[in-house]
Amino acid sequence: MELKRRDFLSATAAAATLAAAKPLLAQTTPGPAPPAASPPAPVPRPVAPGYQAPTEVKKIEIINVRDLEAAAQKVIPTVGFGYISGSAGEGWTKRENEAAFKRVTIMPHYLTGYGSTDLTASLLGSKLSLPIIVSVMGGHGMAHVTAEAGTAKGAAEAGTLFTTGSQSTLSMEEIAQASPGPKWFQIYLPADRGKARELLERAKAAGYLAIVLTIDGVGGGTAQTEWRNRFRVSLPSGNFSERSPQKRNLGWEDVEFIQMATRLPVLIKGVLSAELAAEAVERGCAGIQVSNHGGRNLDDVPATITVLPRIAEAVGGRIPIIMDGGIRRGQDVFKALALGANAVAVARPVIYGLALGGWMGVQGVLEHLKAELEVTMRHAGARSISEISRRSLTV
Ligand SMILES: Cc1cc2nc3c(=O)[nH]c(=O)nc-3n(C[C@H](O)[C@H](O)[C@H](O)COP(=O)(O)O)c2cc1C
Repeated sequence: MELKRRDFLSATAAAATLAAAKPLLAQTTPGPAPPAASPPAPVPRPVAPGYQAPTEVKKIEIINVRDLEAAAQKVIPTVGFGYISGSAGEGWTKRENEAAFKRVTIMPHYLTGYGSTDLTASLLGSKLSLPIIVSVMGGHGMAHVTAEAGTAKGAAEAGTLFTTGSQSTLSMEEIAQASPGPKWFQIYLPADRGKARELLERAKAAGYLAIVLTIDGVGGGTAQTEWRNRFRVSLPSGNFSERSPQKRNLGWEDVEFIQMATRLPVLIKGVLSAELAAEAVERGCAGIQVSNHGGRNLDDVPATITVLPRIAEAVGGRIPIIMDGGIRRGQDVFKALALGANAVAVARPVIYGLALGGWMGVQGVLEHLKAELEVTMRHAGARSISEISRRSLTV
């Protein structure tokens, strides 16, 4: 395994980066001094010895969220960028996730007399300022020294929900302490039931409001990007002292196990068919996330926006539907809501925002998408997100 020189510093330089990064976190959480009993801010750790993740915390200028990928590539070390931007196979599904949105068109409605627009949403009891949440991603420490603490804070500042991954750089407790906003915990289920139970209990104790079970992690992503970089990323996780093998042969009994073990709402992530969506409702899932994992696991599966209408029809409004994959503009959010999603989840643009500006970058990305959604709603004559429907589209 050959690593690019610029990705890795000497241990001394890495220690200096960390020392410099510590006050940075403190600086970014203004306000009154915390009471003595409050937990310390999480200490940034490098994802690998000498890995030099970006450190800047600043407001970023956004004209088009799509531009952030190229800007982030300049600041994230090559292996980290390869991991984040990568996709399975030849990347068709990743590209199609974005391209398919352009085949759905919006029908404006004018002379409505409507003034203000209300973008607030409610998701499993959490009140959000916008119907856009942060999708789960492993290893935020690859993008920024503040890792998930930065992303979670940015999400909370924007008034929305953050999903912590079981493969997070920081521990789920550190992330929970870093931000007061609503949070869900995503799990790649450990094969060992004892370890799985322990992880779930920790999530509940740390205040996570729901568990997201990723069902499409059945093994063997086929990312060419990582092979081209001659680097397979093995994410160090802040949640495990030792690795526990992941259960690959997931079945409905595993969903039931999580439901029984936590008594928290359980969502399944990775739904692409109407049949599976209908069964999720029958099996008592609290919600589903329509997702092809951003085209990272298997290439040539359909773009999520193309399967959403049939799934929404099968679910029939009985449980919330979150859709992710390729959301890059407020219009995309609008189209997903019109085709039946209750909210969308965004991944890569958020982590690029983190790389470019820490929590302020994350907040900026979410607020930019929100502002574009608001403009779209005004043109479409929708006063609230519940007024966005198939009638708002030409298909
Ligand atoms: C860097 C990165 C890490 C990810 N890690 C996970 C993960 O640990 N678990 C998971 O269910 N999905 C993971 N995903 C998938 C996202 O949650 C999401 O489904 C997908 O990336 C959405 O597409 P978008 O990147 O086009 O917004 C990851 C995505 C990225 C970009």
